[in-house]
Amino acid sequence: MSERSERTENDVLVEVRDLKVHFPIKRGVLFDRVVGQVKAVDGVDLSIARGKTYGLVGESGCGKSTLGRALLQLTPPTAGEVSFDGVELTTLPPGKLRGMRRRMQMIFQDPMSSLDPRQNVESILTEGLQTHGIGADRTDRRRIIGETLDAVGLPRWALSRYPHEFSGGQRQRIGIARALVLGPELIVADEPVSALDVSIQAQVVNLLDELQDSLGLTYLVIAHDLAVVRHISDTVGVMYLGALVEEAPSDRLYNEPLHPYTRALMSAVPVPDPDVEDRRERILLAGDLPSPANPPSGCRFHTRCPWAQPTRCADERPVLREIGGSRVACHFAEQIASGELRPHGVSAQIVRPEGEGDAPGVVSAPTEPGSYV
Ligand SMILES: Nc1ncnc2c1ncn2[C@@H]1O[C@H](COP(=O)(O)OP(=O)(O)OP(=O)(O)O)[C@@H](O)[C@H]1O
Ligand code: SF4
Ligand SMILES: [Mg+2]
Repeated sequence: MSERSERTENDVLVEVRDLKVHFPIKRGVLFDRVVGQVKAVDGVDLSIARGKTYGLVGESGCGKSTLGRALLQLTPPTAGEVSFDGVELTTLPPGKLRGMRRRMQMIFQDPMSSLDPRQNVESILTEGLQTHGIGADRTDRRRIIGETLDAVGLPRWALSRYPHEFSGGQRQRIGIARALVLGPELIVADEPVSALDVSIQAQVVNLLDELQDSLGLTYLVIAHDLAVVRHISDTVGVMYLGALVEEAPSDRLYNEPLHPYTRALMSAVPVPDPDVEDRRERILLAGDLPSPANPPSGCRFHTRCPWAQPTRCADERPVLREIGGSRVACHFAEQIASGELRPHGVSAQIVRPEGEGDAPGVVSAPTEPGSYV
């Protein structure tokens, strides 16, 4: 495994500043014409402390994977900065970026599709070592691979087997081994357990936890399952339409969510105690996630927010600001927390992508009203 220099307890390994990833929407028969932009990530600031876990949650399509990939420079950012261990990655020449890649690895949701079915485990693990020139010779590489297999709980006989000969949980261990064999400091795990049986999920989460303790790893864990993120994260960030709406230490976020969207997400998580379950608030959000090709004006959540106020919420985009140890992007977070502002019914609004329908950004007739129970 990699040599680690002495570090202070809480220093920052990854710093993301105003990161944007916009994908062009192209149309045309003979010549592609850019008719709009999908704003998958649209101004994200976050820091990940060394040796800690940052959990990222949010609805499907809100930009979690794009953020993870842009952080590793696997998808080129449109704007913004990503610093890793003090080195700015977005302006790094390709040769130097390749060198940094060894230190930042990714684990994917579906190990079957991310592992080459024609390569046995030894070949899968050797490939990265050779690419990055790790290991003095074949014997040395076999030693590194053997230690990595031990670390992820796979037997040595696994080396000669192919991905299809393993169970889902074992395959994810191979995916983790492939990342780990390079001795990384940061691992971006994109939905690392969501393709696995529930009974296996805890084993893989525990393995990630143990590896963090023994190797001092730093994680960005992306998951839609709030329970998984809570278990593993020190800090949790909640994304909505390409931006963070709230960020807080894990317990604080789960016990005292401040942003209306976070409150809605938390209210959907079942509580084991039936009395508490019966009494707690439930917030059902109206409508689907609006299109990132034409996000709503002002606060992006205002089309679904049960607390939205005229006219500031539709006019002014809230910035993330500190409130008692959390960072929250809501103009009225304090008044909502104190009960001064009460929730109201909202009508779902459909915001059409530019170029479709009557006019850009036209809001269609209200559909089902949102409800607050
Ligand atoms: N290469 C691409 N080209 C164009 N649009 C893209 C591309 N990759 C992602 N998108 C769009 O960017 C938005 C964010 O996608 P992303 O995959 O990051 O979301 P996600 O939060 O990871 O969703 P999920 O939970 O379903 O994995 C989506 O609207 C998606 O369609
Ligand atoms: S700023 Fe307004 S619309 Fe946005 S979350 Fe807060 S109350 Fe809701
Ligand atoms: Mg994703």
